[in-house]
Amino acid sequence: MDLGLTGRTAAISGGSKGIGKAIARGLAKEGVDVVLIARGKEQLDKAADEIRKESGVRVLAVSADVANAESIKAAADAAKAAFGSINIVVNNAGGPIRRMDRQILWPDVDWIDDLNLKIVGALRVTQSFLPLIPSDGTGRIINISGSASMLVWAPALTHGLNNAAMNQATSYLAADLAAQQITVNAVIPGLVGTEAREVWAENMAKQANVTKEDFLASFCKRMGILAGRWATMEEVSDTVASIASDRGKYYNGAKIVLDGRLTVNARPA
Ligand SMILES: NC(=O)c1ccc[n+]([C@@H]2O[C@H](COP(=O)([O-])OP(=O)(O)OC[C@H]3O[C@@H](n4cnc5c(N)ncnc54)[C@H](OP(=O)(O)O)[C@@H]3O)[C@@H](O)[C@H]2O)c1
Repeated sequence: MDLGLTGRTAAISGGSKGIGKAIARGLAKEGVDVVLIARGKEQLDKAADEIRKESGVRVLAVSADVANAESIKAAADAAKAAFGSINIVVNNAGGPIRRMDRQILWPDVDWIDDLNLKIVGALRVTQSFLPLIPSDGTGRIINISGSASMLVWAPALTHGLNNAAMNQATSYLAADLAAQQITVNAVIPGLVGTEAREVWAENMAKQANVTKEDFLASFCKRMGILAGRWATMEEVSDTVASIASDRGKYYNGAKIVLDGRLTVNARPA
């Protein structure tokens, strides 16, 4: 299916690895020029090279911190200088669970740091890139939320708060930006096989003296994922590309759950 995205532009926060890089790669394969935003320069440049080589699109790698308003404003300025306008903004940057201890006992600075990174970071990126998004019906803001917004996982209080807030901000901004013909949607993945998760699964399998496949099958069953596996990063990026295209233009304020039915059957850890 031709999504008709060739020649459009996208900015992806957290675009240097994991789901964000997969989203950038998926959009680039559809002919979209991409801006990758992350802090670590080495990983960013590596991702940009890979995407350039495999897709032939223009790729701008900008080292910036979503937790810092000035840094994100500078990233938007760089994107404007390179591409003029940005059709698609993907708010994806987020961090891993920082510690596994009970989060209600954390110092407030740790709660605040987590919220400052993901939900406030997404608002900063949205605010800074908004002037670059055209009002011609091609404008898209796509928020990468997560299933912690919909269920209780013991180590995931701040992830739950962040993702629930991402869902709410999606509804709010869909209404706020409707007059500019910019749609705002959330994708809510369950568990996704990122590079980091694949390494974790390999280590867990070694410790349990089973194959990675067997470890993952029993882990996903224990978690209650009816699909029996976690999502691939490409499954997330395909969903994003579809919403980003004209074929997805009737989605607005949607929360698209992409979880292999984890959230209806979860067995909380
Ligand atoms: N993996 C899953 O199973 C899963 C499931 C549901 C939802 N999600 C959500 O999907 C998103 C991506 O997750 P992931 O697992 O792909 O993460 P990841 O592999 O850890 O990648 C995170 C990306 O965000 C960037 N980043 C982190 N802090 C940043 C900051 N302050 N400023 C700019 N960039 C920053 C990282 O680069 P630098 O560190 O170099 O900045 C990296 O590019 C997150 O929002 C996460 O909550 C993930």
